[in-house]
Amino acid sequence: MASITIRNLDDETKQALRERAAQNGRSMEQEVRCLLDDAVSSGSGPEQKPRLNPAQDYTETVSISAVDEEFGNYPGAGKSVLLIISGGIAAYKSLDLIRRLRERGVEVRCVMTDAAAQFVTPMAVGAIAGGQVFSDLWDRASEQDIGHIRLSREADLVIVAPATADLMAKMAHGLADDLASAVLLANNRPVLIAPAMNPQMWANPATRRNAALLAADGISFVGPASGEMAESGEAGRGRMAEPLEIVAAVGKLLDDRPRPLAGIRAVVTSGPTHEPIDPVRYIANRSSGKQGHAIARTLAQYGADVTLVSGPVNLPDPDGVETIHVETAREMASAVEAQFPCDLAVMVAAVADWRSAATATEKMKKQDGKGPGSLELVENPDILKMVGHSADRPRLVVGFAAETQNLETNARAKLKRKNADWIIANDVSPEGGVMGGDRNQIAIIDAKTTLKLPDLSKTEVATQIVERIADWFAENTASA
Ligand SMILES: Cc1cc2nc3c(=O)[nH]c(=O)nc-3n(C[C@H](O)[C@H](O)[C@H](O)COP(=O)(O)O)c2cc1C
Repeated sequence: MASITIRNLDDETKQALRERAAQNGRSMEQEVRCLLDDAVSSGSGPEQKPRLNPAQDYTETVSISAVDEEFGNYPGAGKSVLLIISGGIAAYKSLDLIRRLRERGVEVRCVMTDAAAQFVTPMAVGAIAGGQVFSDLWDRASEQDIGHIRLSREADLVIVAPATADLMAKMAHGLADDLASAVLLANNRPVLIAPAMNPQMWANPATRRNAALLAADGISFVGPASGEMAESGEAGRGRMAEPLEIVAAVGKLLDDRPRPLAGIRAVVTSGPTHEPIDPVRYIANRSSGKQGHAIARTLAQYGADVTLVSGPVNLPDPDGVETIHVETAREMASAVEAQFPCDLAVMVAAVADWRSAATATEKMKKQDGKGPGSLELVENPDILKMVGHSADRPRLVVGFAAETQNLETNARAKLKRKNADWIIANDVSPEGGVMGGDRNQIAIIDAKTTLKLPDLSKTEVATQIVERIADWFAENTASA
């Protein structure tokens, strides 16, 4: 879909558009598309919505479509894949692959070779895929309407996992003597293969030639990896990629979303910092990193080149994001500074304000009869302030303000003090469960306006913020 750039509008129209978009929970670009759709379908022009006060609480009116929270907007959701399982020992991993694709909203249809049925039963594959498994080229029912052609044409992507040396050879040379190879030869969809075989088979010059032919034909590969072979006790290259790696590769191939932030370099911080007291104790806070990681992942999905500087968290590194792991505020500050120059900074981490003035090299012992010693604290670097006042200041600086009282007043003061463009204020009072939880209620505050969003999942919050970031760069980037 072509993208719309909202640039040459006068300020009043832009503001009205921004308000209307906020009211409907859309980005400005989405709002323009809706206005155009309305105009085309009614033949008269868009229905007029009342003007809004930007300082108003829009909680009642913002509606946002649900996303699969756990899997954070998987790009393949709603799409359909054809999974061809050939006869390798790794076929058992295909069951997990099917499950992981389906839980991300991907429809999976399966074809199995006869050899694959020696390793996993069609019954198990069908039960997990939630449908019929196809394996017979001569099946009367499905071949009446040329099933071997229809099967691939109805999919957005064809996956071969595991891909045996045998099936790769057939694909490379255009053989079509069973359903799997006939489907692959009649196919006009992108193909991803996950080779899995004994290391000697993979290293064999015949397989090397076949792999090179397939790559030249535009077929994508994931793996094989190096490691122990399940069947032979041998080690080397030939293990099938893990199901989650295949899921990530599938996501990339199915991702056809527009990339409005392509060319934008972003640095994001996330999580808490840990400030050591002695080798086993540290000062920390309850930040989980869920919000910062969701923002980094969403920025990458919108096409930005993202570096995430993460404090200690129990989360996987987001797909498509370069992640730098740090522990203390001082480490985080220098990792952020090393990313300059960049276009965008989103400082989400809950950086400890103070650290212990001294770090004991040995564990501090409790001494019976003597009370606890006192801890002298010193101030940590203020990372948001450093970014906001940097000579290399990013074009857009976004900070978070975690507050338990006077949210808006405190956030607005922070905006000025830190020289940030926006502050995302969130109420982290314990009763709200924001710190460590999966939901968040935020207000986006800039020099002029406050936009309050309703209670949303952290993934949805990330989408709302990133949509507005994309709008900002569209508005503030001069046309070529
Ligand atoms: C126990 C066992 C394990 C096998 N594992 C693999 C394997 O991991 N990769 C492979 O390419 N072939 C493997 N083979 C050989 C294939 O099953 C054989 O080449 C078969 O013809 C492949 O058929 P297909 O490509 O139609 O599925 C294995 C064979 C046996 C008996």
